[in-house]
Amino acid sequence: MMDKKYNTQLLPASAHPKDPAVEQAAKLLRQGELVAIPTETVYGLAANALDPDAVKKIFLAKGRPQDNPLIVHISSFEEITQLVSQIPDKARKLAEIFWPGPLTMVLPRSSLVPDVVTAGLDTVAIRMPSHPVARAVIQASGVPIAAPSANLSGKPSPTTARHCMEDLNGKIPLILDGGSCQVGVESTVVSLAGDIPRLLRPGAVTPEQLREVLGLLAVDPAVLEKITEGPVASPGMKYMHYSPKATVIMITGPWFACKDFLTQKQGEGVWALVFDEDLEDCPLPAISLGPQNDPAKQAQNLFSALRELDEKQAQLVYARAPMEEGMGLAVYNRLIRAAGFSVIHLTD
Ligand code: TXA
Ligand code: MG
Repeated sequence: MMDKKYNTQLLPASAHPKDPAVEQAAKLLRQGELVAIPTETVYGLAANALDPDAVKKIFLAKGRPQDNPLIVHISSFEEITQLVSQIPDKARKLAEIFWPGPLTMVLPRSSLVPDVVTAGLDTVAIRMPSHPVARAVIQASGVPIAAPSANLSGKPSPTTARHCMEDLNGKIPLILDGGSCQVGVESTVVSLAGDIPRLLRPGAVTPEQLREVLGLLAVDPAVLEKITEGPVASPGMKYMHYSPKATVIMITGPWFACKDFLTQKQGEGVWALVFDEDLEDCPLPAISLGPQNDPAKQAQNLFSALRELDEKQAQLVYARAPMEEGMGLAVYNRLIRAAGFSVIHLTD
């Protein structure tokens, strides 16, 4: 029998400062326990970032590799000063425009941040979320909050409280339910620790938007390619990620070519992940990511679609490639990882 350490509670939460669920979450966090909380991107598995023993529990509960650092969440800009050794002008500018919101900045760390949070790096990743429940929890707890996505390591990130329950039931004392996440994919991660700002993970704040503020922005090769050797700027990017149990293969090309290809692939447990427009004449049983030209909608649906394929007991999934522009880059980045970088290019 599985050893269940906790009788995990699932409580609806509002942003009211006296909401009893928020107060309970804050109390557990101050006691060094973990709580899953909603954010506008995905649900986070929260711990007091200044308590190394609490942070260690995150790695245990998720089965997360120790060398993958965590994001520290704050609720007001002043809280950043104790966490970093300097605040570059570029960081102030980005914060003014995109905080609170789905942007994480990597900055030189201060000595107050425990090594277990940064995986021993000399930088720390910081984000100010906009979700009212996340903000209420951070404020009520009175400490910065370390929080990776609240999934088991390797699984699709959770965008509902039910997803958190699937992965963490029995492993943590409390999950706050704040409804479905509005963005649906994790925050954009940009490093400001080097000379040139560098995009480490694409998200709802797009490279185009960042360039408008920063001018120059390098895009880390790990955003689109598999990095097998040498150091990786963002350790999280080297792991297999977001995977349903099924084998996922991405297919690129126009729908008529995809349709011919999928017709030949019919078989037990073979599914397609397509766009709304394709559903009607798709030769395989299919789930839609959303409209082809609406990557924001696709981002909202992506992780629950991957979990749904598990529920359908899909064994093999052919997934149409999202566009790589704007927010499409974030969807593409997650899907190509779910596919373990296997892509078939189809033309006429
Ligand atoms: O939207 C989000 O960012 C969500 C919510 C809960 O806020 N959190 C999240 O955390 O996605 P996580 O742990 O799943 O992803 C953190 C990413 C990883 O790719 C990690 O390698 C990178 O940020 N990261 C964290 N600290 C870093 C650092 N000091 N330098 C470079 N990359 C860092
Ligand atoms: Mg994650």
